[in-house]
Amino acid sequence: MTSDVRHIVIAVDGPAAAGKGTLSRRLAEHYGLNHLDTGLTYRATVKTLIDRGLPLDDETVAAETARTLDLSNLDRSVLSAHEIGEAASRVAVMPQVRKALVQAQREFAKTPAGAVLDGRDIGTVVCPDAFIKFYVTASPEVRAKRRFDEITGNGGSADLPTILADIEKRDARDTERADSPLRPASDAHLLDTTEMGIETAFETALRLVDAALEH
Ligand code: DC
Repeated sequence: MTSDVRHIVIAVDGPAAAGKGTLSRRLAEHYGLNHLDTGLTYRATVKTLIDRGLPLDDETVAAETARTLDLSNLDRSVLSAHEIGEAASRVAVMPQVRKALVQAQREFAKTPAGAVLDGRDIGTVVCPDAFIKFYVTASPEVRAKRRFDEITGNGGSADLPTILADIEKRDARDTERADSPLRPASDAHLLDTTEMGIETAFETALRLVDAALEH
């Protein structure tokens, strides 16, 4: 099945570098749905603060910046830097920032074409009524190696132990924050890509979505 007349929302959550972005893009392409990488909204907030020389630890200023973000203008190539992701997880602990971004993400999810959203709290907070939910994970070592390969594959230089330490720090910050911590929704399908790889995860997800669409 490649398309469906129903408006569906697919929620994909998981820690950094687990493969949820690739999985989400491919699901969106396959089912003709719009896709929002919600991590980019946190990254864009932090990048805007940095570009404007504003502090990263002032919740009021960060929330105001989040409220004025243009979701149609999120440039992945500019926002994908490892350091931006690290800084993004710091503003992501601020409830006022989350409130502003979650509101924009929910608007996106209403798009008539249907949508795939990926992030940390899509199935639990942003779209708790999503048609289907996935939680994509992998061991920290495998995720660090993927990030390392991605950076060096793009001609950059990276240090694997540093990336692993950053990933573990980010996991701790994302899972331990008080507001909307990273955790699987109780009705999410778990996809562990440590051994199965992203291609197999995609095929597994397709089978699950197709089965749900038949009901
Ligand atoms: O997925 P990512 O690495 O681009 O996300 C960057 C940071 O943004 C992540 O460490 C935590 C935060 N984030 C969040 O709190 N909630 C989301 N739905 C998406 C990202």
